[in-house]
Amino acid sequence: MPIPDPALVVLVGASGSGKSTWAAARYRPEEVVSSDALRAVVGSGPADLDASDDAFAVLEAVVAARIGRHLTTVVDTLGFDPGRRRSWLAAARASGVPAVAVLVTAPDAVCRSRNALRDRPVPAKVLTQQLRQSARVQAELADDGWDEVLVVDTGDTEPSAGPVAPPPGPARATPGERTASTGVEVVLQLSRFPWGEDPFGWLRAMALAADEVGFSGIALMDHLVQVPQVGRAWDPIPEPWVALGALAGLGTGLRLGTLVTPVTFRPPGVTAKAAATLSALTGGRTFLGVGAGWWEREHAAFGVPFPPAAERLDDLDAAIRTMRALWAAGTKPYDDGHVALPETTCYPRPTSPVTVVVGGGGEHRTLRIAAELGDACNLTTTDPEVLSHKVSVLRRHCADLGRDEAEVAVTVLDVPVVGRDRDDVWARVERMRGRTSAATYAARSHAGTVGQHRERHAALAALGVSTVFLTTPDLAGPEDVLALADLVR
Ligand code: UTP
Ligand code: MG
Repeated sequence: MPIPDPALVVLVGASGSGKSTWAAARYRPEEVVSSDALRAVVGSGPADLDASDDAFAVLEAVVAARIGRHLTTVVDTLGFDPGRRRSWLAAARASGVPAVAVLVTAPDAVCRSRNALRDRPVPAKVLTQQLRQSARVQAELADDGWDEVLVVDTGDTEPSAGPVAPPPGPARATPGERTASTGVEVVLQLSRFPWGEDPFGWLRAMALAADEVGFSGIALMDHLVQVPQVGRAWDPIPEPWVALGALAGLGTGLRLGTLVTPVTFRPPGVTAKAAATLSALTGGRTFLGVGAGWWEREHAAFGVPFPPAAERLDDLDAAIRTMRALWAAGTKPYDDGHVALPETTCYPRPTSPVTVVVGGGGEHRTLRIAAELGDACNLTTTDPEVLSHKVSVLRRHCADLGRDEAEVAVTVLDVPVVGRDRDDVWARVERMRGRTSAATYAARSHAGTVGQHRERHAALAALGVSTVFLTTPDLAGPEDVLALADLVR
């Protein structure tokens, strides 16, 4: 069972059982509060038992401060004192932080021989007593009330060197084979464009990196002004259909499209025309995200009408019907009772069907439009509970409308903080959190290593998600794309 994060992790075990080694392999040094280390801070060294009271006073203060901030805290002491253990547990409970006890064990002989090799071995009699306590303590731990009690045996293991290094980069994927082994297809979403003096050079480098590591495609935001969730209004954000045209010329195997184009920006037929042209230029690797639009400011700034929500949703419905009519074979008149066109003359036709991804999780209308007219619906949550709920609403609409639910894929926008290792994850959180507390920002952004995100993506796949539109809040250059390789392998 994985240990929750953040969590209070209280180590328990005799001297030489391997507690500090276990902690060092899994946690950042700042996350581990060790009585030995603090004896060396307030006393003459880790074995300065006269400094124990002072060391524990500091330790208690550190535990309280960190847990109060919902920060992972590993308490590295012998852990045999039930009073101390329970007060840490109570602090975690009070802050709503999960609390885990980890009993670290090794055969007595192993502990003794490890102890003998130390600079200042624990006296044999003391160690014997600790080993007895260790044998008894499991029953006590069961009574303490931990969320989880983990028993780790370090008897015949070499000290772990920490997280296993990722294997070398994946072989270049070919189009059509681009589903990650997590079970989801991963499309790189570009939403920030820190391209300096060379916009096309930057876009090209990003796309080539994405293609190299095996992303299935690239999605561009469709906004007239950079949105506040991503950047500042004066940060550059390209018109996506122009930019996608440039990417189409690179000869990659990437699928290209928008996430999402608001129906308010262009008459739907004109968007259909752009998407059909992109399909022709890419050999059919085009998707189109469409939504009702939401940001009034960009409409006002560009002189684009922004009707009320109900009307925009009607427009979304009509837009998909119009685009599908224009993409279909033939130039005959079209009338489905909602949309009527005198002819559907739109050449080039898409080389293969354009995937229509309906953006937005509005349960009453948006998901219904997706169920009726979309090839996919894109949800902006990756919270398992919310996601399962939205998926069930989508499926109910499908059942209602007599649409095969297998025809409507579920996609999500995922904007996690991704780091090489725990240290790197934390450095990124600290850099980007602004005034939000680190714990809140980390939780909200699912901050974690690539391995942790692989697990999350596999869980999303299990909930029915087929495609993840992935971006990171600090995606700045091609090296950041390459660093995501293990998420798409
Ligand atoms: P630790 O220093 O991790 O033990 O390992 P500990 O439980 O924290 O001990 P105290 O309570 O602070 O005294 C002790 C020795 O055992 C080796 C380590 O390299 C270290 O020299 N060790 C530890 C292993 O060989 N394998 C392991 O899995 C863990
Ligand atoms: Mg130790």
